[in-house]
Amino acid sequence: MQRVLLIIGGGIAAYKAPELVRRLRDHGLGVRCLLTSAAAQFVAPLSLASVSGDRVYENLFDLTDEAEMGHIQLSRDADLILVAPATADIMARMAHGTANDLASTTLLATDKPVMIAPAMNVRMWTHGATQRNLAQLVADGIGVLEPDDGDMACGEFGPGRMQEPDAIAARVAAELSGEVLRDAGTLQGRKILVTAGPTHEPIDPVRYIANRSSGKQGYAVAAALAAAGAETHLVSGPTQLDDPKGVNVTRVETAMEMLAACENHLPVDAAIMTAAVADWRPVDMAAQKMKKSHAGAPGLQLVENPDILASLSEAGPRRPALVVGFAAETENLETYARDKLTRKGCDWIVANNVAPETGVLGGDMNTVHLLSGDGEETWEKMSKTDIATRLTARIGAALQTEKQVSTK
Ligand code: C5P
Repeated sequence: MQRVLLIIGGGIAAYKAPELVRRLRDHGLGVRCLLTSAAAQFVAPLSLASVSGDRVYENLFDLTDEAEMGHIQLSRDADLILVAPATADIMARMAHGTANDLASTTLLATDKPVMIAPAMNVRMWTHGATQRNLAQLVADGIGVLEPDDGDMACGEFGPGRMQEPDAIAARVAAELSGEVLRDAGTLQGRKILVTAGPTHEPIDPVRYIANRSSGKQGYAVAAALAAAGAETHLVSGPTQLDDPKGVNVTRVETAMEMLAACENHLPVDAAIMTAAVADWRPVDMAAQKMKKSHAGAPGLQLVENPDILASLSEAGPRRPALVVGFAAETENLETYARDKLTRKGCDWIVANNVAPETGVLGGDMNTVHLLSGDGEETWEKMSKTDIATRLTARIGAALQTEKQVSTK
């Protein structure tokens, strides 16, 4: 049985902890609870002990506990640590590596995956300090279950409400299935191609057409696939990102170069096309820098770029068993994405809303829909790293039952 160490922070949302323990147990997970001293004001240790079927841990300096069950052992016994509710204070202490009670000491001592479900007043959540701490925690690889919008105990409305226990439990269970995959190295022996980033289409030696893709999602996918044991080849347009660990990276500039690099890597078991390939390129690149003239702006003549996703999806002996496209839209997300699935002939589309107000472009969080020939799933808002992990788990499962991959 996989085990979750649930660290309960001292906020009003702590009253949901017994319900959260039940929902985690519904997923077949073992749960052990650790309360901060503030949390004990909101939820009775005894009720947690009865729903978890285990004793509840509270105090770092309880010598009996240190002898029987040190904080290191608490972390060792868990497959994942969940902090819920994660208060502004506990997030700050995690971000700064403070270790002054049992909860923070355990969090600093662990090498297990950690997820947090923040809950706090809307102003505390949006405060620059909390957002800085959040960014640090995401950078440290901590999974974030973003708070919901809603009425709050303090009488205000906005983001800051802890996600509902069933949603949190589902995310934890999904993360643990990803961990199982990573541990088992399910993608060992598989060769997977990933594209990422924008392309740059030169106008003249100093100017180019580009787009706002940061490449973060694609790099996260490549990193997760490599961590799961796949021989991963990333063909990347220009980005500011470092090469992901364990990934073979080919850097290109243009769509034509990206297509050639992809074809060079065939055959592969799966191709995950996250790149934001420019749809058009200037017909000819001017040999010299174009000069301003009194005749006005030059007319840019564009020609369509090859569609790499559609070309890799074409039936034939070199078609990967699984081809996944990404669709970034600012409106009519599902309709456009389903249309793309048919038009391009790929097996799955991961669709996301990149309207400016979502902060997805260049940001660390994302909300996606996974569309296949016969279904559609909406994934809760999560970090790009968490999306990559979950997608990797799905790819691993699909490649094991290849017949189910393609709807064609
Ligand atoms: O048509 P659209 O650009 O929105 O499609 C997005 C999907 O198609 C992404 O998976 C992207 O990597 C892929 N694509 C491609 N080659 C192109 C255009 C898009 O591989 N020329």
